[in-house]
Amino acid sequence: MMTENSSTMVAASLYKPLLPFVERKGSLMIGLRRQMVSRRPRCILVKQGTVKRCVAALLVLSIISIFCYTRYLVNTPFSSLMRRDSRLEPSIRCAILSGATRVPAVAHDHRSAARLRIDPKVLVFVETTYSRLGREIAELLVYNRIKYKVEVSGKSLPVLTNLDKGKYGVIVFENLNKYLQMDKWNRELLDKYCREYSVGIVGFNPPSEETLVGAQLRGFPLFIHTNLRLKDAALNAGSPVLRLTRAGETAWGELPGEDWTIFSANHSTYEPLAWATRNSEDFLSAEMSRTPLATVIQDHGVYDGIQRVLFGGGLRFWLHKLLFLDSLSYLSHGQLSVSLQRFLLVDVDDIFVGEKGTRLRKDDVVALLATQQRIQQLVPGFRFNLGFSGKYFHHGTSEENLGDDLLLENVDSFMWFSHMWNHQQPHLYDNITQLEMDMTLNREFAKEHGIPVDSGYSIAPHHSGVYPVHEMLYEAWKRVWNIRVTSTEEYPHLRPARLRRGFIHRNIMVLPRQTCGLFTHTIMIQRYPGGREKLDEAIQGGELFQTIVYNPINIFMTHMSNYGNDRLALYTFESVIKFLQCWTNLRLITAPPLQIGERYFQLYPEEGDPVWGNPCDDVRHQRIWSHNKTCEQLPRFLVIGPQKTGTTALYTFLSMHPDISSNFPSPDTFEEIQFFNGKNYYRGLDWYMSFFPVPKNATARYLFEKSATYFDGDLVPRRAHALLPHAKLVTILISPARRAYSWYQHTRAHGDQVALNYSFHQVITASDTSPKPLRELRNRCLNPGKYSQHLERWLSYYPPQQLHIIDGDQLRSNPVETMNELQRFLKIQPPFDYSKHLRYDPKKGFFCQVVNEDHTKCLGRSKGRQYPPMEDKSYKLLQRYYLSHNTALVKLLKRLGHRSVPQWLKDDLSDTVTA
Ligand code: A3P
Repeated sequence: MMTENSSTMVAASLYKPLLPFVERKGSLMIGLRRQMVSRRPRCILVKQGTVKRCVAALLVLSIISIFCYTRYLVNTPFSSLMRRDSRLEPSIRCAILSGATRVPAVAHDHRSAARLRIDPKVLVFVETTYSRLGREIAELLVYNRIKYKVEVSGKSLPVLTNLDKGKYGVIVFENLNKYLQMDKWNRELLDKYCREYSVGIVGFNPPSEETLVGAQLRGFPLFIHTNLRLKDAALNAGSPVLRLTRAGETAWGELPGEDWTIFSANHSTYEPLAWATRNSEDFLSAEMSRTPLATVIQDHGVYDGIQRVLFGGGLRFWLHKLLFLDSLSYLSHGQLSVSLQRFLLVDVDDIFVGEKGTRLRKDDVVALLATQQRIQQLVPGFRFNLGFSGKYFHHGTSEENLGDDLLLENVDSFMWFSHMWNHQQPHLYDNITQLEMDMTLNREFAKEHGIPVDSGYSIAPHHSGVYPVHEMLYEAWKRVWNIRVTSTEEYPHLRPARLRRGFIHRNIMVLPRQTCGLFTHTIMIQRYPGGREKLDEAIQGGELFQTIVYNPINIFMTHMSNYGNDRLALYTFESVIKFLQCWTNLRLITAPPLQIGERYFQLYPEEGDPVWGNPCDDVRHQRIWSHNKTCEQLPRFLVIGPQKTGTTALYTFLSMHPDISSNFPSPDTFEEIQFFNGKNYYRGLDWYMSFFPVPKNATARYLFEKSATYFDGDLVPRRAHALLPHAKLVTILISPARRAYSWYQHTRAHGDQVALNYSFHQVITASDTSPKPLRELRNRCLNPGKYSQHLERWLSYYPPQQLHIIDGDQLRSNPVETMNELQRFLKIQPPFDYSKHLRYDPKKGFFCQVVNEDHTKCLGRSKGRQYPPMEDKSYKLLQRYYLSHNTALVKLLKRLGHRSVPQWLKDDLSDTVTA
């Protein structure tokens, strides 16, 4: 039996390890602890009559101990009883939100006829290329997909007009002083441009070491007071600038930074856009600390004909980001207005997957439904989108299994999408039959439980198989589920979030997914990194809020456990939606994923085309890439052409090297894969890699690919660089005139009717009104020869050190030397002695491969053809045609460090003036 004494000691010992913790956790507990300590002697001294009280105290202590233990340490049988207390209720202070609905407001339409004279682009003057605010401005513009050009202040102005159009819709000065102190000439030029094209200026007043009080802004009836600490920001509801931003509420609390500028004016051209008050800690009178001070001011242009918006602080304050976007919209007459519609889709991943004790119970499902109903009043069509892996249905505690049942009883209240039957990552499957079987199991499960199977949307666990693409997943998705749309955070990369994009592969739309800050492990507010303060910061103007403001289409992924436990997801979404309604005029809606996908690619049609990146350049991508795939199976260098310059000879010579190997031949295009330039690109990376030997089975260490059409393909450098950023590039140049003629002869030899019906001269002089086939032949003859233009495009992606230019005439006349130089450039070890393996064949008129000591093996009849020489008039015409291109090529070669100019280039450039 336990004595009073011993029981008290047990209580004390039970309590002891928790003391420091309990002390931290609020006055109630501290009070109880004091009570316990003070009563302890009495229990010992007074034996009779106090026993009951001691036992009662002990009981209370035990309950507290269990409470603390279960609440803060682990999931125990008691935790489900205790943990519910920490749940947060959305409490957005917002006068304009009456109940669940909001008072309607009109967002200004900034469009006017003036917008037709300016391009939707911003010119940003930064202090330096590294300055913080400049970077923040650029990031904000990128996020909102607004085009911009950055110029460093103080240099000469860029060209501002293009024909009769203004190239920029708004001019932004990161530092307002740089505008005010511009040299007279440039200032007059810029102001003239602004007046003529009705272009406005945004300026940020910079922090200064010296505190200015009532200082006049140079040349303007405007005065500033700098270096202030401010609080409680509010907006001028009457301002015509407001469009995205909604006035009516106060952003209570201190504004970030201690270097705010406020404006005061004595001219009617100025109207405040935002106010704040002085920080009351700054020893001010009550009246002073209540007076609203203009922190952002609009200049209507009455004074000097130019409209401006001036900010007294940078973009650190969230409200300024909104006002900045509105200023761009207003000052560009609507040319830079962002859409006000926002799609919002909340996916709930793994609705049945989760450890016992962390899953949804009945009351969680009730809360889910109730919150959904409330959100529906603010976001038309809102329904949580539940993703299921059927295998884990009814795998929880008995209470949680009731939760599963309640979800299915309300199956029609939600949207549903298929996850994976067993939550397996698709990239781990090498066998499509197995993958399909697993998907079919989930489909059968859905049918059995009345879950709709026609959403056309699916999500892969951990983004696996979506990007980098695991073809098997796409194939199985189509066959089993008829999937048309999915989403991922990984394309092109998780970070930076502002650059996430969508693409379409095999007719499946892959949408970018945004991050809401909740993860599988963030199920209790105490464990949320940074606690409630951080979560609220993200919601109230911070990252989550901004994500929705900047992205017309938002797909968020949350985990089932975010809806049980502390139900952080319910709190987060309801709160952020309310905050958005409070501070913006955005119209939030939800639609089924298929509709959202279609809308996305209507908005951004250019994104339909994927750009395959290198999975080995991103550790996250490597983790979700099949273990059977390796970047070693990709080429180390590319021979990019152009056609008819000797690319087959080079390909053959390279392949003679025992350590060098090319791709397997493609059945479609003779030996060339032609991946980066044509439709083959849409077949994906797996398809491209299938042309190269798996390293462990290959003897050659240097893989390369030659496709002569790469040279002049518009999209090729970008695509090649995305996949092979470290690859070396090899190009061969001959006289562009001779190249054009060789191509013409090539097409004739292939029986091309146009080439047979028209002379070379007729082809190269064909006008733009000629029949299409003739124009096409003309273009294929002429366009690749504009060497400088194409090389510049390659050099805008690749550094010059990765490019090697071969003189095609040298390849023809002295291939041994050419190959030696190339081996040095490619750092091929050991080098191959071509002098022993190449010999001139007088019959062929070219160098050929030596076989069996005294025989040669030459290229086929189609290489080194016999045909009559080019007519002189055609050569002269082409000399003139290529004059500017060849001149630019000479400059380019010099820039690249070439000591001598090829003879053919000198010849092509000679006599052109007299001809
Ligand atoms: P012609 O057939 O017009 O003479 P490509 O392989 O890029 O299509 O280029 C074909 C050209 O390579 C031929 O054009 C030929 O002039 C040139 N060439 C260079 N070295 C060669 C070689 N050793 N054997 C055959 N052709 C060679």
